[in-house]
Parts: sequence; structure tokens; C-alpha cells
Amino acid sequence: MAEILVTGGAGFIGSHLVDALLAAGQRVRVLDNLSMGKRNNLPLDNPALQFIEGDVADAQLVAQAVAGCDAVVHLAAVASVQASVDDPVATHQSNFIGTLNVCEAMRLHGVRRVVYASSAAIYGNNGEGVAIDEDTAKSPLTPYAADKLASEHYLDFYRRQHGLEPAVFRFFNIFGPRQDPSSPYSGVISIFTQRAQQGLPISVFGDGEQTRDFFYVGDLVELLMQALGAGQVEPLPVNVGWNQAVSLNQLLAEIGTLCGALPQVTHLPARAGDIRHSRADNTRLQAQYQLPAQTPLRDGLARLLGL
Ligand code: NAD
Ligand code: UD1
Repeated sequence: MAEILVTGGAGFIGSHLVDALLAAGQRVRVLDNLSMGKRNNLPLDNPALQFIEGDVADAQLVAQAVAGCDAVVHLAAVASVQASVDDPVATHQSNFIGTLNVCEAMRLHGVRRVVYASSAAIYGNNGEGVAIDEDTAKSPLTPYAADKLASEHYLDFYRRQHGLEPAVFRFFNIFGPRQDPSSPYSGVISIFTQRAQQGLPISVFGDGEQTRDFFYVGDLVELLMQALGAGQVEPLPVNVGWNQAVSLNQLLAEIGTLCGALPQVTHLPARAGDIRHSRADNTRLQAQYQLPAQTPLRDGLARLLGL
């Protein structure tokens, strides 16, 4: 039985991973400052789970959390691109210094395997219909994207210099239950489905023709479990997406079909730094991992809407 540290484990993706790890008989530590995560996302009465409330920007605390672990899944970060545009200094502490602290703590305590949540945001803008592969030029347009790209470089440095074994995933847009819809910074699907259910007006930033490659959280967790269990991991980062572009207007149409009707939709100016089109070439993912059966967008939306 292994002991896995999940930073950001009280959040959306992290809490689903924690459930899967516990179900697989692993012991789990979670380090989360509850800035977005919630205690009630976690089965705190499970004796195989240890919850540490605190910040990944606190190097000493990270070192304590890492000591004695077999592997780390580093998910703690401010997940909102827009939050990083509004407050680059605060998000840098979580999104970059946090990663550096995890690397140092792992070096100190001889822990090698780390699964890291990088992002499609590092590619910046590419043309409509273009499937972005991992070698596409990097063009981080926001502090969020710059911190993710810098984190990747640091993980690679610690791999070469100190023997870390990073499995770096560039997630495209992950959606599913427990994605917190309560902030304007929340993921678009969580906001749209909640507002559609409550009959509240929906705001679209821009014309709604921007596209995203949406990936269901349960499918992602299968990949994260594979990365933790693999004997060896390839050092190169891997895109996580389906090579499918869905526009916000198409997304709204799906939600409208499932709900029977849509509330009023208002268009506001596009957000600064917002990426227009994002679609993954997932050839490398398919070569290195067993692809899960895809949860179709409509099924994932139906689950979110409780249908
Ligand atoms: P989330 O906000 O639900 O989870 C992030 C968790 O990290 C939260 O529980 C939050 O409280 C915690 N956290 C934030 N700052 C922290 C800090 N300084 N110290 C300790 N804990 C901290 O978001 P999520 O969607 O589950 O994202 C998980 C990871 O995946 C993030 O690194 C995010 O950047 C990355 N990612 C997410 C997506 C997506 O579409 N959701 C796509 C690409 C990458
Ligand atoms: C998302 C993730 C980010 C990840 C990236 C990878 C969140 C909050 N963000 O960023 O962590 O790294 O994918 O691709 O999980 N929008 C509206 N109305 C709203 C909310 C959003 O029109 O009420 C628009 C946005 O302007 C954007 C699109 O929806 O064009 C998607 O926004 P969002 O869900 O915040 O995701 P990304 O910025 O793509």
C-alpha cells in the first residue's frame, strides 16, 4: 500500500482523484488551503485519509507533507486564468512558488514520482480547427499560463538534476461534478449548467464562437491513476483532450436541449487574455496511456444537471 500526497485534493479534480485512490486501497494525504476546495468534498472519516489545511507557498509545510510519501500529485493552484490576470502576484505564489516548493521537498525527502497538472493555456492562440500537439510553439498569454510553463521547466530541471520522475499532463478543459460554480472565475460549464437549472441569465464573454476541448473529470482520473501506477513515465508532457472543438454556442444549445429551454443569454466583451480556440492533438496520449472510454459531453452535462 502506497501513500500519495495530493496537493489541491479538496478541489474539483483533486477530490475525484482522492476517491479513486482510496477505493484502490491507497493511503492519501491532502494538502489544500481551502481557497476553492471544500472539506465536504473529502471523506474525512476515512482513516486512510489525512487532511492538512495549508498553503503550497509555505515551503516548510510542503516539506512536512511530502516526507514519507511514495508519490505526489500536484494539483494545487489558482485554476482560473482570469484570476491570474486580475492578481498576478497572488496567483504566482500558488501556481509557481507552490510547484518549486513541491520539487524541493521531493528532492529533500527522496520522493521521485510527481504527476503535474499543466494546462493547454501555455499554447496561447492557434487557428480555428487546429489540433495543437505538444511541440506547438508555446505562447503563454497570461500569468496563469506563464506559471504553468515555468513549472514544467522546473520539473524538468529537477528530473535531469535530481532524478525526479515527473508525469506532466497538459489538461484541456475538464468538467464534471464538484467544479465549484460560485465564483465568476469558475469553469464555464459549471456556471452555465447551474444558471440554466436556476433559470438565471447567462453571460457569454464575446460572440460565443470561441471553442474548447471538454474532457470529463472521471475520464481524467483514470489517466492520473495510470500515471501513478506506471513503472516508468516518459519525460515529455502529454496533452489531455479529445481532439474535439466545441463552441460556447454549441455548448449552450446542448444545455438548452437537456433542460428544455435556456434562460436569457447576454453577450459581454471578450475577456483579456482569453484564448479563442483550443483543441488537443492527443496522439501522444494515445501512445503512452490506455485511453478511457470517452464520456460524451451530453452525458457529462446530463450528470451535472442531475438528469
Ligand atoms: P480547483 O480550484 O477545484 O482545485 C484547486 C485546489 O487547489 C482547490 O481545492 C484550492 O483550494 C487549492 N489551492 C489553490 N491554491 C492553493 C495553495 N496556494 N495552497 C494549497 N491549496 C491551494 O480547480 P481544478 O479544476 O480541480 O484544478 C486542479 C488543477 O488542474 C489546477 O492546477 C489547475 O490549474 C489544473 N487545470 C485544471 C483545468 C480545468 O479545466 N479544470 C485545466 C487545466 C489545468
Ligand atoms: C480553463 C480552466 C483552466 C485551464 C484551461 C485549459 C477553470 C476555471 N479554468 O480555462 O484552469 O488551465 O481551461 O484549457 O477551470 N466564459 C463565458 N461566460 C462565463 C464563464 C466563462 O463566456 O460565465 C467563457 C470564457 O471567456 C472562455 C470560456 O468560457 O472563453 C472558457 O472559460 P473558462 O471555463 O474560465 O476556461 P478557460 O479560460 O478555457
